[in-house]
Amino acid sequence: MVFQVPLLDRKRIAESGEPSCSGDKILCVEKVKKYFGGVRAVDGVSLSIPRRSIVGLIGPNGSGKTTLFNLIAGYYKPDSGEIWFDGKRIDGLPPYEIYKYGLVRTFQTPRMWTSLTVFENVITSAKDQRGESPLAALVKKLWAGQEREIARRAWNILGVVQLQHVAANMSTDISGGQMKLTEIGRALNAEPKMLLLDEPAAGVNPTLARNIFENIVKLRDELGITFFIIEHRLEILFDYVDYVYVMHQGRIIAQGKPAEVAENPAVVDIYMGG
Ligand SMILES: Nc1ncnc2c1ncn2[C@@H]1O[C@H](COP(=O)(O)OP(=O)(O)OP(=O)(O)O)[C@@H](O)[C@H]1O
Ligand SMILES: [Mg+2]
Repeated sequence: MVFQVPLLDRKRIAESGEPSCSGDKILCVEKVKKYFGGVRAVDGVSLSIPRRSIVGLIGPNGSGKTTLFNLIAGYYKPDSGEIWFDGKRIDGLPPYEIYKYGLVRTFQTPRMWTSLTVFENVITSAKDQRGESPLAALVKKLWAGQEREIARRAWNILGVVQLQHVAANMSTDISGGQMKLTEIGRALNAEPKMLLLDEPAAGVNPTLARNIFENIVKLRDELGITFFIIEHRLEILFDYVDYVYVMHQGRIIAQGKPAEVAENPAVVDIYMGG
């Protein structure tokens, strides 16, 4: 496969010899900052995520986790620093470009089409739907097969997130936990290379929360999707992630395997309110 290198990246490669974020790394964040007035929401964060890994991002309320996701997904532009995804520099690109590259996020508070059913919400996130092009819409045979395939896949995804029994409900007529699951379903239907999940298990009962994480492991193993997951429920998260980053006041203050992080005095300190 020919590796297309944009101009900006070529300059960088010429300077350093090779892209700094490639090979086994799918995502790299390098010295990224985002201030809101005097609030240092993200204050010089660097991290990297290996392909096919499941990595956690934890930290107390207001430590900058969601802001970091917003920066990675293109909802904010960093004040400084660089973000690389799958060999491409993505900071400054609009969210839909980043989404098209296969980096898809879910929101801490689910955002859905309230006038659509759960099933329709999942279906609408499929990429490149041919029936949506005004010309192709005139020629049914161009897209009829694809529509059936999209519907079949969306139904399977509803199985993965355990929502088939409420598929026909309006998206406003399900529980908060089921809304989170619908969002995850929407994200999966976009055929992502990597998913950023902001508190996927919030408001979900412990059994279902574990079920979601078991499915995340399965999706990684079977489809090779990489996961970066914000989660406050550490007792669940730590059983499934390969690696954890800990944020506090906009900075990464610790990182390592879950067992190492759990014993790190600095982490214990911030979680005990120190
Ligand atoms: N759009 C914004 N404008 C101003 N300040 C913001 C904005 N977004 C976030 N902040 C501030 O940046 C800091 C980090 O917020 P962020 O939402 O990233 O934290 P978080 O780690 O996701 O917290 P939580 O665990 O409660 O979701 C907070 O002080 C927050 O008030
Ligand atoms: Mg948050």
